Amino acid sequence: MAEQSGHTTVEVGVLTVSDRVSRGEAEDLSGPLAISIIEQHLKHAKVVATAVVADEVDDIQRVLKEWSDGRKLQLILTTGGTGFAPRDITPEATKAILDREAPGMVVAMVSASLQVTPHAMLSRPAAGMRKQTLIVNLPGSSKAVKENIDVLLPVLPHAIGLLRQDPRAAQPSQHHKLDMK
Ligand code: MTE
Repeated sequence: MAEQSGHTTVEVGVLTVSDRVSRGEAEDLSGPLAISIIEQHLKHAKVVATAVVADEVDDIQRVLKEWSDGRKLQLILTTGGTGFAPRDITPEATKAILDREAPGMVVAMVSASLQVTPHAMLSRPAAGMRKQTLIVNLPGSSKAVKENIDVLLPVLPHAIGLLRQDPRAAQPSQHHKLDMK
């Protein structure tokens, strides 16, 4: 979290997961698109970290851990590797390092995407939190990146705000304690 001219900047990381892009055989179109949509449409957001990795569990998890535990980014978006191909393992790599899942975000993305294309059934994204970082998997195509970020944008400020709350402030009050009589 960084202070910038009176407000708190939302620090974001964008991770492209693709064997072909990592080998230089294809251009990364979806990563740069995610960056530009987030910086234009998410208030106070700044993409401070970007990377491209192959479809390898260890590589994906190394970056996700470094950006959440080390750099303490508020939001990480991954793009690619959510489908049915044997090497599409982004959701499994992500779920294994999450503290808590956010199934509502997955339902929202997939159901909105199904209104656009039946191929949305072929995406298996994970979403959730690692400590105070929200991590969301997006499919690999630019079109899908735009359509899915559009679904997330309305809730991201509130989601990130909730994650920033000091856990010590969340002690249950007397008022909310169960009456055990
Ligand atoms: N979701 C949206 N909104 N729009 C799309 O065009 N493409 C689908 C799906 N989700 C798509 C989408 C396709 S064709 C595939 S194969 C899956 O995402 C998985 O993509 P990935 O393996 O690149 O992550």
